Amino acid sequence: MSTRTPSDPGPVAKPLPHDAAALHVTGQARYVDDIPTPKGTLHLAFGLSTLARGKITAMDLAAVRASPGVVAVLTAEDLPFDNDVSPSLHDEPLLATGEVHYLGQPVFLVVATSHRAARVAARRGDIQYAPEEALLTLDAALAADSRFEDGPRIYQKGDAAAAIAACVHVIEDTFELGGQEHFYLEGQAALAQPQEDGGMIVNSSTQHPTEIQHKVAEAIGLPMHAVRVETRRMGGGFGGKESQGNALAVACAVAARQTGRCCKMRYDRDDDMTITGKRHAFRISYRAGFDAEGRIAGVEFTHLVDCGWAQDLSLPVADRAMLHADNAYAIPAIRIESHRLKTNRQSATAYRGFGGPQGMIGMERLMDHAAHCLGFDPVEIRLRNYYDAPASDAAVTTNEGGAAPRSATSPRGISEKMKDNTTPYGMEVTDFELHEITQQLMLSSDYVARRAEIAAWNASHERLKRGIAFSPVKFGISFTLTHLNQAGALVHVYQDGSIHLNHGGTEMGQGLFQKVAQVAASRFGVGLGRVKITATDTAKVPNTSATAASSGSDLNGMAVKAACDTLRDRMAAHLGAVYQQPAAAVVFAGDRVRVGTEEMSFEAAAMLCYTGRVSLSATGYYKTPSLDWDRIKGAGRPFFYFAYGAAVTEVVVDRLTGENRILRTDILHDAGASLNPALDIGQVEGAYVQGAGWLTTEELVWDDAGRLRTHAPSTYKIPACSDRPDVFNVALYEAPNREETIYRSKAVGEPPFMLGISAWLALSNAVAAFGDGYPHLNAPATAEELWRAAERLRHGV
Ligand code: MTE
Ligand code: MOS
Repeated sequence: MSTRTPSDPGPVAKPLPHDAAALHVTGQARYVDDIPTPKGTLHLAFGLSTLARGKITAMDLAAVRASPGVVAVLTAEDLPFDNDVSPSLHDEPLLATGEVHYLGQPVFLVVATSHRAARVAARRGDIQYAPEEALLTLDAALAADSRFEDGPRIYQKGDAAAAIAACVHVIEDTFELGGQEHFYLEGQAALAQPQEDGGMIVNSSTQHPTEIQHKVAEAIGLPMHAVRVETRRMGGGFGGKESQGNALAVACAVAARQTGRCCKMRYDRDDDMTITGKRHAFRISYRAGFDAEGRIAGVEFTHLVDCGWAQDLSLPVADRAMLHADNAYAIPAIRIESHRLKTNRQSATAYRGFGGPQGMIGMERLMDHAAHCLGFDPVEIRLRNYYDAPASDAAVTTNEGGAAPRSATSPRGISEKMKDNTTPYGMEVTDFELHEITQQLMLSSDYVARRAEIAAWNASHERLKRGIAFSPVKFGISFTLTHLNQAGALVHVYQDGSIHLNHGGTEMGQGLFQKVAQVAASRFGVGLGRVKITATDTAKVPNTSATAASSGSDLNGMAVKAACDTLRDRMAAHLGAVYQQPAAAVVFAGDRVRVGTEEMSFEAAAMLCYTGRVSLSATGYYKTPSLDWDRIKGAGRPFFYFAYGAAVTEVVVDRLTGENRILRTDILHDAGASLNPALDIGQVEGAYVQGAGWLTTEELVWDDAGRLRTHAPSTYKIPACSDRPDVFNVALYEAPNREETIYRSKAVGEPPFMLGISAWLALSNAVAAFGDGYPHLNAPATAEELWRAAERLRHGV
């Protein structure tokens, strides 16, 4: 079923290095802050609110203005046009208007001759406030009924309460789930260069150049055509640069318009962490009923979502959490209730998984809890509740074109009758891969034997306990805001046979540009050396979506393919005519072009087409088919397909200190027919470690005044190299996508993040060995939290 043919393999599917790998490791890769700027470039810094909530009663900025190097100081009143940087609701002023909503909110803008001068001056503002009661916890927000929608959103299937009431076994619990700082290595940055006609060229470290263009145009009162945004690369985005770059770009453009000079802004790490939004923290409550065989009949979830002070992307994030509450399981009756609460903290934003991780972790926790309750192997109970595999399995072919190995002993038969394979939102699951993935991973990780060995080891060890856990992922691919599922590309073939490639996706380290270049080279049958990867540019491809929802290569790969095929067809028609052959007889392969018995280099073919007056420039466009989603009803087909994966993690925990390590992790992840297995393995490894970091060491702490105390790497602990699993076996499950995606690949950016859940469950499993009963554990499971959990269990609290 793969669209690849043996005669035209091209560079697709090859494990080639990232196009900028050499530049990254030699420090030559150019980020926004590295772009040479003209003499006289000005530097910006925000003066920040020192209060979490209140009215501004007086603002004395004389000392700021008098500070050395200061050229201008702007407040909300000085902004010429729209004072808004929100991606959604128009509720996020660039500079505070009379009131502040979180500690760290930008209140005024300093424009100075150096980065340091701007930062020093920004600390010199004298602002008086009339404090108001800040809502700093979910309970406070709930009590004040402080929300982003009128009431909770509810998605449901069947009558969960009745189904649970009829069950012999019922479990319930509530746990806290912390947020997460993106910790991209390159902080937020922007540079604006004013043009002769009042227009603006903006370089921005953003996942969403079109949004930057849109917000800058509004802020300087010009149409979008007057603003051109360019993004060559980011030093990581992870969702943190979907909307959080707006403020810097708008500030630079406004200041550049006012001063007529180039303006640049980058946040120092502390400012970045203090100002920008993070992953949404949740409180998750679950209640589930099941029978003695572990078949779950009904589940209820309540999500309390800490959205922070502004709406930003919180509604789609909270929706996606609900859409992933089922994870991999066909639950006959389920109810998910989601409260989008408004608090006086940084505005929570997109972060890898976009709510999916928060949705899934509730179900995975519940599965382990139910297994513990019944004394089952947690894998067994999962298998019993999995969605059914599609009946057409045997027809699916692998990369090589042969039949995919599908075991006859597939555990699919465990449920005697076929399940209702529709999700809580009414989408039929037709591509379920997890039976096979689980079976393969059980073998490759030697799970059963190790689980027994760990139990024996724990029986003879007092202070250290080991734990092992399994967790699967089923992640929906597509933007749930359906119109975002589109992309464009622009491809030129020059007369010397070199190819210029541009599309709407952005590069943040994930390898999108490399994958898409491989697609382009394959379509022309040429080597990658011919293909020039160029910066994302709103003047080349307009109206783009954020590079997000893991859909970068799905969308842009298809758009590039369309553009390349248009050009190839034009070239074939012309070359065919020249040699009196049908266009179909023109073959592009091996960096050469064959026309019947004639053969020439690709550059000779390009030159022939040019002199034959053939247009060698084309756009390409793609929109995802088959989508149909109503978010208010919670019904339809929000996703084109699902990406799958599973992980087994083993850990060890010290009872006296809570210290812990990941000893071994085995992952089998579904990247479809991978466009580039090296990059995809890198994505899986990085995502797992980032997911495990979220649930273990990465703790955000705000004090009683609402000040973020963990605003630097000294206090906020992301995983270090030494924290990766001692043994880390990562493999791709290579079965082509059942849907017609680019070369039958699958999106891979976010789904493996959720495999980190297995680390948290393994820690819980280790803690369980310190007592009887199922431990109560919050996330992140820091050393302190693990120690507390063990103590609670040992003392029966
Ligand atoms: N990988 C790296 N190295 N850096 C990143 O910032 N972002 C992740 C993921 N992988 C990210 C990354 C997120 S949040 C998404 S949505 C996808 O990459 C976006 O890129 P894609 O759609 O091309 O996969
Ligand atoms: Mo990724 S959170 O969709 O940028």
